[in-house]
Amino acid sequence: MTVKTAFASMAGWRSRRVALALVAMPFLCGPVPAQSRALQLGAAWYPEQWPESRWEQDLALMEQAHLHVVRVGEFAWSRMEPAEGRYDLDWLERAVRLAEKHHIAVVLGTPTDAPPAWLTAAHPETLRMDATGHLAEHGGRRQFNYANPHYREYCAQIAGQLARRFGHDADVIGWQIGNEYTDESFDPETKQQFQDWLKRRFGTLDALNRDWSTAYWSQTYDRWDEIPLPTAGGNPGLLLEHRHFVSDTWRDFQHVQAEVVRKFAEKRQFITTNLGGLGWSDNFDHYEINDELDLASWDDYVGQGHLNVSRNGAMHDLVRGWKGANFWVMETQPGSVNWAPVNNALDRGETRAMAWQAVGHGADAVLYWQWRSALNGQEQYHGAIVGPDGEPLPLYAEIAQTGNEFERAAALLEGTQPVAQVALLHSYDSRWAIDFQPHSRNYDQLDVLLGYYAPLREKGLTVDIVSAEAPLDRYKLVLAPSLNLISAQSAARLLDYVQKGGHLVLGPRSGMKDEHNALNTERQPGPLADALGGGVEQFFALEDSVPVSGAVGTGSALVWAEQLSVRADNDEVLLRYEKTSGGKAKGWLDGQPAMISRRVGQGRITYLGAVLDPTLMRSTLQRMMTDAHVEPEFSPLPSYVEVCRRVGPDRVDKDRGNNMRAVYVVINHGESAAHIALPGAMRDMLHDGRSLTEVSLDPQDVAVLEAAAP
Ligand code: GLA
Repeated sequence: MTVKTAFASMAGWRSRRVALALVAMPFLCGPVPAQSRALQLGAAWYPEQWPESRWEQDLALMEQAHLHVVRVGEFAWSRMEPAEGRYDLDWLERAVRLAEKHHIAVVLGTPTDAPPAWLTAAHPETLRMDATGHLAEHGGRRQFNYANPHYREYCAQIAGQLARRFGHDADVIGWQIGNEYTDESFDPETKQQFQDWLKRRFGTLDALNRDWSTAYWSQTYDRWDEIPLPTAGGNPGLLLEHRHFVSDTWRDFQHVQAEVVRKFAEKRQFITTNLGGLGWSDNFDHYEINDELDLASWDDYVGQGHLNVSRNGAMHDLVRGWKGANFWVMETQPGSVNWAPVNNALDRGETRAMAWQAVGHGADAVLYWQWRSALNGQEQYHGAIVGPDGEPLPLYAEIAQTGNEFERAAALLEGTQPVAQVALLHSYDSRWAIDFQPHSRNYDQLDVLLGYYAPLREKGLTVDIVSAEAPLDRYKLVLAPSLNLISAQSAARLLDYVQKGGHLVLGPRSGMKDEHNALNTERQPGPLADALGGGVEQFFALEDSVPVSGAVGTGSALVWAEQLSVRADNDEVLLRYEKTSGGKAKGWLDGQPAMISRRVGQGRITYLGAVLDPTLMRSTLQRMMTDAHVEPEFSPLPSYVEVCRRVGPDRVDKDRGNNMRAVYVVINHGESAAHIALPGAMRDMLHDGRSLTEVSLDPQDVAVLEAAAP
């Protein structure tokens, strides 16, 4: 794979930047126009909350902290349109001009997460109804109804006004549609929309009744208007389709705005939306929502406690997989939040380490929420960068240091992105299906995914987390932790990957259901059982761990265990359950296969029917990597050291075609100093480019290293 193909997916607004930045190498010093920075630090800024006389000071303090981008406007509807049809955007224009003066680019938010009082008072149908039938009120935010056509008209109008005014503004580099899509509505009109949506999807009630097995409990539907909006539980087919409806409805909510912005805005201005829910939220299909966007972005918060390196790294990789390209961290916490049970502050240095972790995983910008707390309002206690007196808070210095480093590393990271040999498959359909019927409250899908992810990251391997529908040909090893739904079509694609030389590892609960969330009539892994030459005889929710051993190691099965069987001669049994006593599916699993593997075509398919303890998972994955010829670059790393790698075209001699270079972001997330042997000589880019073969890092410290890529 050449860099050119890897970056093909990053078409549009970036390519012109590469050309620009390469001319200005290597070590940047003079101010670069904010619009063309490859790596930027920034903050959420709310000029509408402050007297205009205060703006200059804030922007000057931002510039001193090397912040070069602000997001503005996502909650400013009442200021932009104080009364219906009376627009006032002059203040915003003045704010943008001032930001430009301080070399700060602007991302404009469309203010549709918090409609003004006059709108919802005049049009209560634009308000959201929750599942209990309660109509939301003015005074907070997210009170709007995402499905209401009238509300969408208002959204398109305000977005259109903004795009006409700022679509050609040199200092505006992008747009954020709305803010953290979260709550759906359960009002009668939305219910009607759902029923009409089902009619378009199924065509006939016969098809729907068949695919949902509605003969069960006499659920049979005779008319479309009998079908409910599920509020709590329900038929798995209905629940899944409702999630699809919610995803389509948010996509359409976004589309009416993105379309009008795209109509008036220059192509160089990207369109994104900041997705919340700490990355792992699944209230809708995030791949679908990102389809129309130019850039994926998310809001990265720790909340209570401290950075969970593995979880947060995985969330970055999940976000990168939404569009298969670099992304932005549109919001992250400056020290602390206000919404967690205990809003502790991150440790000194942890905020900086968190920013660099994002960059290592493919972020090209990191913005803090927020620059300064409003004097009143629901988030007075939230972490910020300047205090109520407008003066820098203690964290300001750490952020300024990070901003300075970003500035100096921007050119180096220009045109680079993480490139992986290994991918984890992720499917919202499978997640919903399992969460609708967990069968064991201990089966946490994020924990299961991290069980596959963490051992790979510990070795410094780049890991892509991609949609189960994504192209797989670039990966040597593909792991599918909980692919519960496998349709015939998906099975064919996965089998094609294996036959062409890929190594596919299916985890527990794989292939139990079809695309309607109905049970596959072949035992797991359903349509892949023939290729595997074996399958699942019985699944067990475990009350207690069960010992297992085999070629990949010895340890325990936790939470979930499947009794496998082999039918094909060339199936290998890599793990077996040992004899157990009391409360452990006693007798059923004794001596039964827990993991089987088979060569198919030029590749291999493996089924791991249990959640394994971390130590055994490590040796099991090591075996999978060896079989798939995946070699980590770094020798064993201290568990608290994280290594991220971004690859890009050769800077110095890009004409040498596919000469690649690699940039490593190495972070010591631990409490003690770390000494890391490097796989080859590298240049320390945060410290005068000296050449190193080993790097020493104090706790929370970061190194950014450049090397010729292998
Ligand atoms: C979310 C929102 C912001 C703010 C922060 C607080 O991410 O998008 O408006 O409320 O949380 O952490």
